[in-house]
Amino acid sequence: MQVYEGAVDRGLEGVIACTTGISSIVDATLSYRGYTIEDLAANSSFEETVFLLWNNRLPKKEELAKLNADFGREVALEPDLISALKVLPTDVHPMAWLRTAVSTMGLWDADANDMSDEANHRKAIRLSAKMATLVATFCRLRAGKDLVAPKADKSIAWNFLYMLNGSEPSTDMVKVFDTCLLLHADHELNCSAFSTRVVASSLSDMHSAIVSGIGALKGPLHGGANEQVMRTLKEIGSEDNISAWLDTALAEKRKIMGFGHRVYKNGDPRAKILRSMSKEMTEASSEPQWFKMSTILDKEMEERKGLLPNVDFYSASVYYAMGIPLDIFTPIFAVSRVTGWIAHILEQYSKNRIYRPRGQWDGKVNQTYTPIESR
Ligand code: ACO
Repeated sequence: MQVYEGAVDRGLEGVIACTTGISSIVDATLSYRGYTIEDLAANSSFEETVFLLWNNRLPKKEELAKLNADFGREVALEPDLISALKVLPTDVHPMAWLRTAVSTMGLWDADANDMSDEANHRKAIRLSAKMATLVATFCRLRAGKDLVAPKADKSIAWNFLYMLNGSEPSTDMVKVFDTCLLLHADHELNCSAFSTRVVASSLSDMHSAIVSGIGALKGPLHGGANEQVMRTLKEIGSEDNISAWLDTALAEKRKIMGFGHRVYKNGDPRAKILRSMSKEMTEASSEPQWFKMSTILDKEMEERKGLLPNVDFYSASVYYAMGIPLDIFTPIFAVSRVTGWIAHILEQYSKNRIYRPRGQWDGKVNQTYTPIESR
């Protein structure tokens, strides 16, 4: 039995697993490629930010136009893929469906096993452009509605809302949704990005790595929390009930979804931006109570537990006010985060060494085999 020196870092807390130049967290400041998230949210678009994440610099006008045109060429799903997707059950969690859909999409990708830079770039475009289409396709199939074909000259945010609702979205709605996509695009070595890097480190293909990212994001301790936040607010029901509900939940040692973070101890900067978006969106909707309740829960959690909201807390009421179904909140996260995963996969390929940590043994020792008849 081998015992290693030093403590086991449960959950790899504080472990530096690799070098990375994609996004950084310093105290409460999140930057993509050196630009703060506040700067990008105020001035950039999702597509421009994707260029930044993939190329380590902002694009020139013609480079952004080319990226938009590339996405436009790839945004629609091929008829064979649509036929295959129509066979999948839709009475499942949308993240489970999306995981299978992306894996299925890989079967039709002529570049699937080509690891050249050119092929990886083509796959990056395809996966990023089609993720929103896949999620909208799921929603329409589940509702028994006809699919809505995306428009090649529109942004990913515009197309998602258009395909989801079957009508052209307002400019304001597109702007809010585009900013949400931008805010969720990358976040250093989070659970799903790390999982894509682990898969990529065996030199497996991009689709396999993205499927692992979707699997990791699905969990309620990661991206799945945004859906649970809205369920929590609904379970609480009204402002008057927050305090009593929290008494019980904390006494039962329940995790309150949308609070806490492994890295941020002084607040998640994305939550601050989303808080004002939530105020604006819910006040413009017929259900302003969700923002009000969120702020009370936020205050109580800070006072009682010293825990601050993370990205999933206020995004929940933003999406709800936009009329997006609750169980589509986490798939929306994937629509954005696929672009960050791709940046991580490409960075991993560019300086690869396979991830292979060790485990501290805490199992039985010195066992001797006994034949099955004698057990
Ligand atoms: N509600 C209640 N208590 C909490 C919460 C919470 N949301 N978060 C942490 N705590 C408590 C834990 O119970 C633990 O208390 P203890 O020491 O008395 O046992 C202590 O704070 C430390 O918590 P850990 O779970 O060990 O913290 P960790 O760094 O491992 O986990 C995580 C971070 C997963 C985000 C955690 O705070 C959590 O589960 N939050 C709720 C789920 C959530 O919102 N996830 C989304 C995160 S953002 C993202 O991934 C996109």
